[in-house]
Amino acid sequence: MQTILNSYRHQINQNYLANELEVINELLIYLKDYSATAIQHQAHSLVTSIREKKEQQTLVDAFLHEYQLNSEEGVVLMEIAEALLRIPDPRTQDLFLQEKLTTADWHRHLQHSDSLLVNFATQTLDLTGKVEQQFKLTDPVHQSIFSRVTSRLGLPLIRTALKQAMQQLAYQFVIAETIEKALHKASQQSSYLYSFDMLGEAALTASDAERYYNAYAQAITVLAKHAKNDDPYRNPGISIKLSALYPRYEPLQHQQATQQISCQLLALVKKARAANISVTIDAEESERLEMSLDIFGYVLSDTELKGWSGLGLAVQAYQKRALSTLHYLAALAKAQQCKIPVRLVKGAYWDSEIKRAQVNGLKDYPVFTHKTATDLSYLSCAQFILSQSEIFYPQFATHNAHTVAAILNMGKTHPGYEFQRLHGMGEQLYRQILTQSNGEIPCRIYAPVGNYQELLPYLVRRLLENGANTSFINQVENADINIEKVIADPVAHFKKIQNLSTNCVLPINLYGKQRINSEGINLADIEVLTRTQQELEKFKTQTWQAAPLVNGKVYTGIEHQITNPMNSQQIVGRVIYSNKKVIIEAINTAVTAAK
Ligand code: FAD
Ligand code: 2OP
Repeated sequence: MQTILNSYRHQINQNYLANELEVINELLIYLKDYSATAIQHQAHSLVTSIREKKEQQTLVDAFLHEYQLNSEEGVVLMEIAEALLRIPDPRTQDLFLQEKLTTADWHRHLQHSDSLLVNFATQTLDLTGKVEQQFKLTDPVHQSIFSRVTSRLGLPLIRTALKQAMQQLAYQFVIAETIEKALHKASQQSSYLYSFDMLGEAALTASDAERYYNAYAQAITVLAKHAKNDDPYRNPGISIKLSALYPRYEPLQHQQATQQISCQLLALVKKARAANISVTIDAEESERLEMSLDIFGYVLSDTELKGWSGLGLAVQAYQKRALSTLHYLAALAKAQQCKIPVRLVKGAYWDSEIKRAQVNGLKDYPVFTHKTATDLSYLSCAQFILSQSEIFYPQFATHNAHTVAAILNMGKTHPGYEFQRLHGMGEQLYRQILTQSNGEIPCRIYAPVGNYQELLPYLVRRLLENGANTSFINQVENADINIEKVIADPVAHFKKIQNLSTNCVLPINLYGKQRINSEGINLADIEVLTRTQQELEKFKTQTWQAAPLVNGKVYTGIEHQITNPMNSQQIVGRVIYSNKKVIIEAINTAVTAAK
């Protein structure tokens, strides 16, 4: 069995930076029986109903609709949302606002939104921006008049109003500050199941990690009192981010990280198992996928958890390795004789995935670069999960009406799955799912719990998702975009095309064809890392010798020992540095050669 599992793992590794079109062609094979027309019809009706309920749009919807993230104003608002509440003192907050408010053109948004509140905010931003602009670069006398006037009237008021608006924006996505309050709120919406997420991720220190661990452990203790069902899928669940549990959860530290996190996670999962509370491991950055699978496999195979089907994980369809990951998980479930709940998501880290691949000069991207390809991948993965109902419990996490319609259609003959949405998003779509299925298809809310200090990365992902003009959730709010475009069918799209247009140039062509970008080693790929380490091993016993070399002549001099910066006991070589005479000799040689 181990050989089979290893071969699936190798497959995952091989697809890390696969060619996008090749993966798309493979994905299409899984959708042979796809009923495009029926799905379009249902998606159309879902979107029509969502648009009819436009008066129920949230403040976030209205703001992000007015201030698109591809506009300068949208970016400024995003920057304010990200930073304002974290700046500790009012003076720095004012300086920050002074800088930000003058950089965008608020005027063109005046009276533009359907929301009174957004229009009022725009008016305030416009007025403040103008006043600030007038005084910003003028002489010190004006500056001091400005600060006197604004300190009495303007900026403190604006600052307070903006802070409140940002707080409201932020807290739309958080259910409550404590797990007790979260449970109380959840009990008011009894048509939903819940998976609680204790905010906090990417721990930087051991004490951060300890705090996050304790928050999860305490949440499980509290949830245990409310887990009354024998079926773990009917109890409240918990979602865990592995990056919260250890400060060095990174491929370069993979051995130590997987060991440490496995122990932490195992302790939490045993506690959850005792109360029959299902646990989902959130999916994070693509470079962490392989480590997360090691950790997941280790915990799942613990004897105390044998046969328990409450431990699951999120799989990101935007990764080119999504389908191979599912093949591996299917083999793992068979080996452990349990069911694995799989939360299928599209993926929330798209922008940073693209940027990191470019910065690292990778040969390709780990994620699709066409949104339609991610949609297609989601459907193919969904089809695969649904077809393996004896080993997977499918959990479809999406706010996209077309994706929901496709699942409803594909799932007709495969009962026993659920839909999931994020707290503060997708309410109208989910109201329809609950009504139309008569409550027969369970719906779960992923509900973040915590305070503003821990919210930031989560908030940024939600704002990007709501604000991106490719997002369903953004397009559905915009009545100028016709419904056919909003529910465009990814399968039909790829059946028609032979070649893929370039959406993001490959990292190597980032600076154009004239200047090829330097190629990086993908140190996030554990197989590459292992090979590189093996290559380096060969040089372990070699002692290096370096000396100035000018015009073919090697110079002698005083030798300096060079030690390994990681281990000062190990001498890696000796070097003779250039002296003045050698440098003059080198310059003269170069000058002569240049003549
Ligand atoms: P859509 O608008 O149809 O899809 C948007 C998505 O398409 C983007 O998020 C991105 O994934 C993809 N995309 C956008 N532009 C491009 C492009 N140019 N090329 C390729 N793909 C593109 N996300 C995680 O990463 N890990 C998790 O553990 C996780 N847990 C979640 C749990 C729940 C219950 C829910 C509802 C979501 C979770 N998410 C998680 C977030 C999820 O990834 C996003 O909400 C989701 O991608 C939005 O998809 P959609 O179908 O609602 O919207
Ligand atoms: C995120 O944290 C919901 O896990 C997802 O963005």
